[in-house]
Amino acid sequence: MSTSMSMRTHYCGQVTANEIDQTVTICGWVHRRRDHGGVIFIDLRDRYGLVQVVFDPKDPQLLAQAERLRNEYVIGVTGLVRARPAGTVNENLATGAIEIVAQNLEIFNESPTPPFMMDEHHKVNEDVGLRYRYLHLRRPEMVNRMVMRAKVNRYLRDYLSDRGFLEIETPILTKATPEGARDYLVPSRTHPGHFFALPQSPQQFKQLLMMAGMDRYFQIVRCFRDEDLRLDRQPEFTQLDIEMSFVKEPELQNMMENMLRGLFKTMLNVDLPDPFPRMTYAEAMTKYGSDKPDLRIPLEIVDVADLFKTVDFKVFAAPANDPEGRVAALRLPKGGELSRKEIDDYTQFVAIYGAKGLAYIKINEMAKGIEGLQSPILKFIPDHVVLEILARTQAQDGDIIFFGADKAKIVTDALGGLRSKLGHDRGLIQGEWAPLWVVDFPMFEWDADEKRWQALHHPFTAPVVNSLDELRNNPGAAISRGYDVVLNGFEIGGGSIRIHSSELQALVFELLGISAIDAKEKFGFLLEALQYGAPPHGGIAFGIDRIMMLMTNAASIRDVIAFPKTQSASCLLTQAPSLASEKQLKELNIRVRLPEAKK
Ligand code: AMO
Ligand code: AMP
Repeated sequence: MSTSMSMRTHYCGQVTANEIDQTVTICGWVHRRRDHGGVIFIDLRDRYGLVQVVFDPKDPQLLAQAERLRNEYVIGVTGLVRARPAGTVNENLATGAIEIVAQNLEIFNESPTPPFMMDEHHKVNEDVGLRYRYLHLRRPEMVNRMVMRAKVNRYLRDYLSDRGFLEIETPILTKATPEGARDYLVPSRTHPGHFFALPQSPQQFKQLLMMAGMDRYFQIVRCFRDEDLRLDRQPEFTQLDIEMSFVKEPELQNMMENMLRGLFKTMLNVDLPDPFPRMTYAEAMTKYGSDKPDLRIPLEIVDVADLFKTVDFKVFAAPANDPEGRVAALRLPKGGELSRKEIDDYTQFVAIYGAKGLAYIKINEMAKGIEGLQSPILKFIPDHVVLEILARTQAQDGDIIFFGADKAKIVTDALGGLRSKLGHDRGLIQGEWAPLWVVDFPMFEWDADEKRWQALHHPFTAPVVNSLDELRNNPGAAISRGYDVVLNGFEIGGGSIRIHSSELQALVFELLGISAIDAKEKFGFLLEALQYGAPPHGGIAFGIDRIMMLMTNAASIRDVIAFPKTQSASCLLTQAPSLASEKQLKELNIRVRLPEAKK
């Protein structure tokens, strides 16, 4: 496999019985050293795995050299491959049938005792792992994730390249892109007081590429968003960004589904459904309390407001009669066994979403009628209403029914969050993979605080309307041509058919409360480009980190990124962000004003 120019003939993890009686040279890190009555065994590790090296006492000089070896020393060994003695074969190791009898040892570099063990059995404290990321990445589970990520990127590149998509790079030093987060800004030295923004996505550039006639574009691209971090969010993350011209929803969605099906089949031998199910935003919110429902959880939210309109229990009757209110129930099979403490904990959990309580009914024995139920709210509710709730939720003996009653958003978020939590806490997850398209999003969402419309996707998403007047007269009713791909409760991708008319784009900006002057300042180039023969076009972007997190069953998005940031958006390895020197700041015409507490 090698030429004489290489430092090694084989990789550690790939020496097998085929190489018996051959002399090989391998390089790697000392994973473990064991001394057995004068014989020294080394497990030598590289990206491909481990192999056992034996230092025989017959060569005292070599043995003395081997005695110096410690964990994570990096060495080269030349030796003869032989079958392991009977009884010492390790079935769990690819190289477990052989060992290498060392003839020559070269120590390239030493290492202090590492801050954690390199085998996958020892837990690594996350901060220590991030601080010594280069060591953490030596561990097999991290190597496997990086290898898989590279394969996924390659699969996606090939899939799209094979279908005529051009990989085109777009600027990183650019202008703000409105994707709903804060921008990372970079000061310009040559234009005092002016700033570049790092792209939250290449959205406008990929649309401009369609206007430029590139027809099909893709890019595996870093995006930057200064937003609150969660386990599935990083301040810089990677999108598979895609745009196509002369396309409508079915063609684009089919091609993307096929890509994901092929990816999962190739990488994991998993057959994703064909086609993916489609669900409207309204149905997702009503039944699952989320625009990214985890369909592996067999729990559904059921509306019951109509039953409470005339009931003399204010907590429920008020929202039942409020057009912006919602009263809904969530049945948990076998939930009757929940303790008082557990119910209190769930009540605290829904409080995060603003819920003021979590009423419930336990169904001990249906046959006994109302007597067979247990609940703090029974005394407020007429029997026929209770019985109708049991029927509507298809309650069984041993179940519990939870209730939410409040503004619709609070109830939907609270019961949606509770549904997901119960699904995980109670081990209700069914099946392994549940992808779906969420479609028919509203174009706009009313922002009560700012008293203006907000775009549910981004402002370049086309509405389903027949005329500009229709949109202008009733923006709240407009449905958008946006779509999301959801997998197991995570939004892994989102996109839309775009606006390709300058007038419609200007109207959407206007409805979003962006003045004509602001629109010209921020998006003038796009509005202008739209006038020069912009083709109908649409696209999508997938979150590669999220897809990798799901495919590798990682607990956090950080586990699939080589050099991730912490929860507070810093890098423990490089200590970024860091202070700038006076000289740098002066060149950039920047004077720093620290908040009071930091002075
Ligand atoms: P969107 O904002 O939905 O769409 O982003 C696309 C996908 O990127 C992933 N994602 C993230 N992953 C990790 N950390 C983050 N902070 C983060 N934010 C988003 C998600 C998401 O589905 N320009 C549009 C796409 C388009 O319309 O074509 C866009 O960026 O998986
Ligand atoms: P209270 O009358 O406030 O003691 O509430 C009676 C029951 O209703 C308790 O179990 C509360 O947790 C529950 N509850 C109170 N407010 C709400 C609400 N907005 N939604 C759902 N349950 C509630």
